[in-house]
Amino acid sequence: MAFKDTNQQHLLSKIATSNGHGEDSPYFDGWKAFESNPFHPTNNQHGVIQMGLAENKLCFDLIQEWIMNNPEASICTPEGVNHFSDIAIFQDYHGLPEFRNAVAKFMAKVRGDRVSFNPDRIVMSGGATGAHEMLAFCLADPGDAFLVPTPYYPGFDRDLRWRTGVQLLPVVCESSENFKVTEKALEAAYERAQEAKIRVKGLLITNPSNPLGTVLDKETLRILVSFINEKNIHLVCDEIYAATVFSQPGFVSISEVIEEEITCNRDLIHIVYSLSKDMGFPGFRVGIVYSYNDAVVSCCRKMSSFGLVSSQTQHLIASMLSDDEFVNRFIAESAKRLEKRHKVFTRGLAQVGIGCLKSTAGLFLWMDLSHLLKEKTFEAEMSLWRVIISDVKLNVSPGSSFHCSDPGWFRVCFANMDDSTMERALTRIRTFALQSTEVTVPKKRQRWGSNHHLRLSFSSRTGRVDDCLLSPHSPIPQSPLVRART
Ligand SMILES: Cc1ncc(COP(=O)(O)O)c(C=O)c1O
Repeated sequence: MAFKDTNQQHLLSKIATSNGHGEDSPYFDGWKAFESNPFHPTNNQHGVIQMGLAENKLCFDLIQEWIMNNPEASICTPEGVNHFSDIAIFQDYHGLPEFRNAVAKFMAKVRGDRVSFNPDRIVMSGGATGAHEMLAFCLADPGDAFLVPTPYYPGFDRDLRWRTGVQLLPVVCESSENFKVTEKALEAAYERAQEAKIRVKGLLITNPSNPLGTVLDKETLRILVSFINEKNIHLVCDEIYAATVFSQPGFVSISEVIEEEITCNRDLIHIVYSLSKDMGFPGFRVGIVYSYNDAVVSCCRKMSSFGLVSSQTQHLIASMLSDDEFVNRFIAESAKRLEKRHKVFTRGLAQVGIGCLKSTAGLFLWMDLSHLLKEKTFEAEMSLWRVIISDVKLNVSPGSSFHCSDPGWFRVCFANMDDSTMERALTRIRTFALQSTEVTVPKKRQRWGSNHHLRLSFSSRTGRVDDCLLSPHSPIPQSPLVRART
């Protein structure tokens, strides 16, 4: 809520009274809709299912098992309490050496041990959120800008801009090109900034991408590296979904590319990492800046005083991530479970004519509902989104909140719920699609997973989608409706 009250505007700072947090966007509105009527399997079966939260809850059984087997890793157990006082008073902003060593090792493992990371370059922050803001403070002045390929994570508008005064300028990536980041799009964005007399200080990329679930290939990464070198601007790589890659093409980190690119000025390269997605610990607020630039490491280290990771968390994480056997098993099992979820979901959607962008990573799908739009506008996208929230009772996130340039895309998170909730959510989407009536010819978009091309309108819809109408295991391809229209 932005303060309209002039009295408050007078009393508080410009930052406090501005809407820089961005909580008035549909992205956060969906969360509010969920919070006011949350789904519960027994107490509120017709409530809103939360599919707007990129959480990774699929491997908590493994974590719990490890915690039970390693009681000494916690300072609040009889086995670990001897460390309590040492850990409780620790407040060095370099962090516990064993924590930095373990995180450096984990980062390398997630990247297939093709690269190594120097623990002395690891700076702590309050999640990736804090890491991005810290880097923005370090690299840019108010009014300066970062280029960001679209669609991008909505939180960046808050994290990089709100308190720093830095701007984000879109690098427009088109659905007709499967949202690939091209040299042409980069140059066009840079030129627009120059025309507007805005100083560009960097390029911010997310690899694997949120919301697309795609990975950047080596060739594209090389193009990015040569672009930022030529312009002499920074490259910030958010790699917080690195271990969510579940199939080929696999993940290539920027750290691998710069090892090969001898002409690259490493002082321009910075990685943002966190354990929020790969391990599923957003509540622990373990964020990392890994910079190849000594001055940036030193400045970030000083700034990190505003967002250190608690020593209790460092202690636990150091112990957990140093357990090679556990980490190997966790990474492999997590990828396996994500892949299975992804498969069930994309297949279920494809059977009712809903396609998704081909993806091999992430905790979400980028779902194409453009055929359900009454017209190809963002207003129509918002109307469809409102129906999905209020009638279908799913909180999915509209593409416009990710600054997507084409209407009709929605991000759907699939790893933040148990199997039965996932099946119920899938049933709701499929029923919604099949309850719609109008059929037209498909649009020609390069998509993966959509066998059937239906154009569906929800004009005849009568309200809430009934969960019981259609199970994800129903033989949809045999449905007369689908057969008639494929
Ligand atoms: C791309 C990206 N960066 C940063 C964040 C923030 O992560 P954290 O919870 O570590 O602050 C998110 C969270 O969804 C994200 O998707």
